[in-house]
Amino acid sequence: MTGRLSYIRALFAPETDKMASLRATATGNDAIGILPEEGKLLQILIRLAGVKTIVEIGALHGYSALWMQAAMPPDGKIYTFEKDDARAALAEKNLAAEKNISLIKGDALKMLATIEPAAPFDMIFIDGDKLHYTAYLDWAEKYIRKDGLIIGDNTLLFDSVWHDDPVERVRPAARAAMRAFNLRLSDAQKYTSLLFPTEEGLTIAIKNF
Ligand code: DHB
Ligand code: MG
Repeated sequence: MTGRLSYIRALFAPETDKMASLRATATGNDAIGILPEEGKLLQILIRLAGVKTIVEIGALHGYSALWMQAAMPPDGKIYTFEKDDARAALAEKNLAAEKNISLIKGDALKMLATIEPAAPFDMIFIDGDKLHYTAYLDWAEKYIRKDGLIIGDNTLLFDSVWHDDPVERVRPAARAAMRAFNLRLSDAQKYTSLLFPTEEGLTIAIKNF
């Protein structure tokens, strides 16, 4: 790829060898979850907020967890959830050597309860099933600390979220869910927040209370 993003990626968001190899093994139309410049933006936020504990909903192959881990202190901890069996198997292999990343297989909506004793968390990164973003947000609002970060990926929903008319390829229910998610995080009483217009859209919210 040439152009603006390749320039930015080459200068500011080079992948480690391990990240590049994860990308290479994600064949066909399987996704790795985030873009390199989103990974770098997450790192900047982690450093700024002094994040030491992260909950990730949607591990995919483990690629985004590697980006976040690289900005964490040695005693930092990432809990990452993956419900898709094939993706979870790959993530398990890819993250096996990463002692401070715990992969939890299964549906986050059921499995999140297992980490509640470790709450409150500093950051919750939502990148799972797009239909369930508001349900993940219900949990995140409860278990994030004050001034913690709630971040959602793909919040432009393949550039459909702002359209008035239905968009091909994007289910109306998914668009309704994403609109409701963004609307809640846009509440300026509760959050200092922005839908940051990366290619996929990254909604970033600091919880004010
Ligand atoms: C898909 C999921 C993502 O989280 C993403 O960033 C891009 C695509 C997907 O499942 O297709
Ligand atoms: Mg994503």
